[in-house]
Amino acid sequence: MPYLCGQVLLQTARAEWPASSRPMSDEIRIEPATEDAQLSEIQVLAHAIWREHYPGIISPEQIEYMLQAGYSLEVLRRDLTRDGIRYDRALIDGALVGFSAYGPHPDAGALMLHKLYVDAARRGRGCARKLVASAAQYARTHAFDRIVLRVNKANQIAIAAYERLGFSKRGPIVSDIGGGFCMDDYWMQLDL
Ligand SMILES: CC(C)(COP(=O)(O)OP(=O)(O)OC[C@H]1O[C@@H](n2cnc3c(N)ncnc32)[C@H](O)[C@@H]1OP(=O)(O)O)[C@@H](O)C(=O)NCCC(=O)NCCS
Repeated sequence: MPYLCGQVLLQTARAEWPASSRPMSDEIRIEPATEDAQLSEIQVLAHAIWREHYPGIISPEQIEYMLQAGYSLEVLRRDLTRDGIRYDRALIDGALVGFSAYGPHPDAGALMLHKLYVDAARRGRGCARKLVASAAQYARTHAFDRIVLRVNKANQIAIAAYERLGFSKRGPIVSDIGGGFCMDDYWMQLDL
C-alpha cells in the first residue's frame, strides 16, 4: 500500500542534559562490539526485544521486515566495517543486556543514534543512560555538537526515556521503507 511520506528539517536549540535522579550503576560496563561473535549476540538480543516490544506499535509483518533490513549479520558487519557505525554493548556480569549503534549523520555536527535497546528484564537500571553517555562522550571527542535520533511516534516508553535523558522532540518524519511499510517517527535531539 502506498504511503505519503514527508521530511522535516532538523532545528537546533539548546537542551540541558538533566542529571539522573539515580547514581550511575557500577554493575553496568559499556564496551564496543568489534567481533563477529559480539555482533551475533546483538542480533539475537535485538530479535528478542523487537518481538517483545514492537507488537502494538507496528505490525508483526513490519517487525520481521525491519529485523531483516537492520539486523542481519551482513548488515551489522557492513555498519561496523564500511559505514563507520559504532556498536556499544552494555554488559552486566559479562553478559550482554543492551546495545546502541551510532555514527555520523549527513548534517554537519550531528551524530545519529541509530539503535538503543535494553533487555526487558534489565530495564530501569541505567543501561540506556550509560549507553547514551558513552555515545555523548564519543560525540564530544569527535567534534559533534548534538545527537539526533528517530523514534516511532507510538513508542511512548522510549520517548519518555529519551526525554529523561535530555532529548527533545524536533518534529515528525515519515519515511517509506519499502515492502509497503512506513516509519512514522519523531526526530529527537540532544544538544551537547
Ligand atoms: C527505552 C529503553 C532503551 C530504556 O532503557 P533503560 O535501560 O530501561 O533506561 P534507563 O534505566 O537508563 O533509564 C533512562 C532514563 O529514562 C527513564 N525511563 C526509563 N524507562 C522509562 C519509562 N518506561 N517511562 C518513563 N521513564 C523511563 C528513567 O527513569 C531514566 O531517567 P532517570 O535516570 O532520570 O531516572 C528501553 O526501555 C528499551 O529497550 N525499550 C524497548 C526498545 C526501544 O523502544 N528502544 C528505542 C528505539 S528508538
